[in-house]
Amino acid sequence: MELEWSYLFSSAIILLPAFILLFSLKKATNCSYKLPPGPPGLPIFGNIFELGTEPYKKLAGLKQKYGPILWLKLGTSTNIMVVQTAQAAAELFKNHDISFADRFIPDVNQAHSYYQGSMALGRYGSFWRFQRRISTVEMFVHKKISETVPVRRKCVDNMVKWIEKEANSVEKGSGIEVTRFVFLASFNMLGNLILSKDLADPKSEEASEFFNAMKRINEWAGIANVSDMFPFLRKFDLQSLRKKMARDMGKAMKIASMFLKEREEERKKGAEKGKDFLDVLLEFEGTGKDEPANLSEHEIKVFVLEMFLAGSETTSSSVEWALTELLRHPQAMDKVKTEISKVVGPNKKFEESDIDNLPYMQAVIKESLRLHPPLPFLIPRETIQYTKFMGYDVPKSTQVLVNAWAIGRDPECWDDPMSFKPERFLGSKVDVKGQHYELIPFGAGRRMCVGLPLGHRMIHFALGSLLHEFHWELPDGVSPKSINMDESMGVTARKRDSLKVVPKKA
Ligand code: HEM
Repeated sequence: MELEWSYLFSSAIILLPAFILLFSLKKATNCSYKLPPGPPGLPIFGNIFELGTEPYKKLAGLKQKYGPILWLKLGTSTNIMVVQTAQAAAELFKNHDISFADRFIPDVNQAHSYYQGSMALGRYGSFWRFQRRISTVEMFVHKKISETVPVRRKCVDNMVKWIEKEANSVEKGSGIEVTRFVFLASFNMLGNLILSKDLADPKSEEASEFFNAMKRINEWAGIANVSDMFPFLRKFDLQSLRKKMARDMGKAMKIASMFLKEREEERKKGAEKGKDFLDVLLEFEGTGKDEPANLSEHEIKVFVLEMFLAGSETTSSSVEWALTELLRHPQAMDKVKTEISKVVGPNKKFEESDIDNLPYMQAVIKESLRLHPPLPFLIPRETIQYTKFMGYDVPKSTQVLVNAWAIGRDPECWDDPMSFKPERFLGSKVDVKGQHYELIPFGAGRRMCVGLPLGHRMIHFALGSLLHEFHWELPDGVSPKSINMDESMGVTARKRDSLKVVPKKA
């Protein structure tokens, strides 16, 4: 979320008089509203400079002063309400979910009209409902997830092989960036489920081009954009983010078109293969009433791209944080490894079916997601209508951030909230499925993560396999206490220095 000052100053100088007029008009129109409290901010810029590189932490720090909900202004027209406690989140999700069920659409997502057809950015309505229904029934229900176990088995086996190979190629005592391989494996799992393709295959040129374009799309989407704060600067695209997004989205869309064409030809030839999610989308025929009659090529491409964008970095970042916390807490590492070796047994692979019998490993993952939700603000929502919320007036089109990071560390909900203690979840009913508002790494309510059943399974399977296949040690010169825990905020909140570890075959 770092901003480049030069852009802001040059734009401010050009447009200062207009800003001042606008600011006073806005103030005049807002004065009858009782808005939530918040820091006063600067004229023109609002609270832009108060956010820093880890805005969820900065905002969590304002809870003492301003209470459970906070009001911010970014630039000339972005009003933001931040929900900072589990109690306020419960009020939002239980009693006002529908009023807060739209999404804010960032300027970069205008590129190639991505937002038209996106489920994650879709307006609350019948098309979005249809998208959730079809992806749940065809991809995320328990039955479908169970049917696709062999696909994930293959991808995790590959991940283990890649790690072994990488470990043999680096100098003794220096670590490997394990998250890279978890990301590749997650991407590959999605590629196989959706398109029946190995998209992380370095031998395929089109697959690696697709992979690289998708990584860059995630990068552009994660940078704070002046165009979102000062909408009348949009046409200048001062950070060239829309341009870069258009370039990489264009590449990804072109390759997705090729995948579609290939598939249509295969289908014409009647090639024998199992049905994947792309087949489901291509075959879809609806009533045309509360669902479309069929899906356009653009809608299919966006649907497919979105699954990769939403599912790969979130999964790999969750695994990276869990492994990092275990390396910082050797006792927890011993405990989880002992549990796994007892349940899985020697000379056997870690299987998805083992997960239910591993309460301590499940507790480790919950505890890590509590401290490090990959999307600390969930995905920003927007109010559909004016709403009276906890005694305040919240205007239509307000952007709403739910600070899952602050909620996970709220001392009113958690004992010793800053410490990593998986034991707190043993024998506890609290889970991540959107019913316990103190732990919402996948969100809650209508817009909760639709991919939760798959994402949840992938994190447990990948982490369990890493722990079962290898002993993990820190590189020479690094101790558990000296691991750098700084974060950087892109689409997800990642470790700023990617975790480096030495794998030793178990
Ligand atoms: C560790 C893994 C994951 C985490 C932590 C995560 C987290 C989230 C969160 C916080 C949201 C926003 C919820 C809200 O606004 O209340 C979300 C939405 C979404 N997620 Fe996930 N996610 C994960 C994996 C996945 C996977 C594997 C997929 C699909 C393959 C996926 C697809 C989506 C989609 C499409 C949405 C938008 C839903 C909507 O707006 O209706 N996610 N996710």
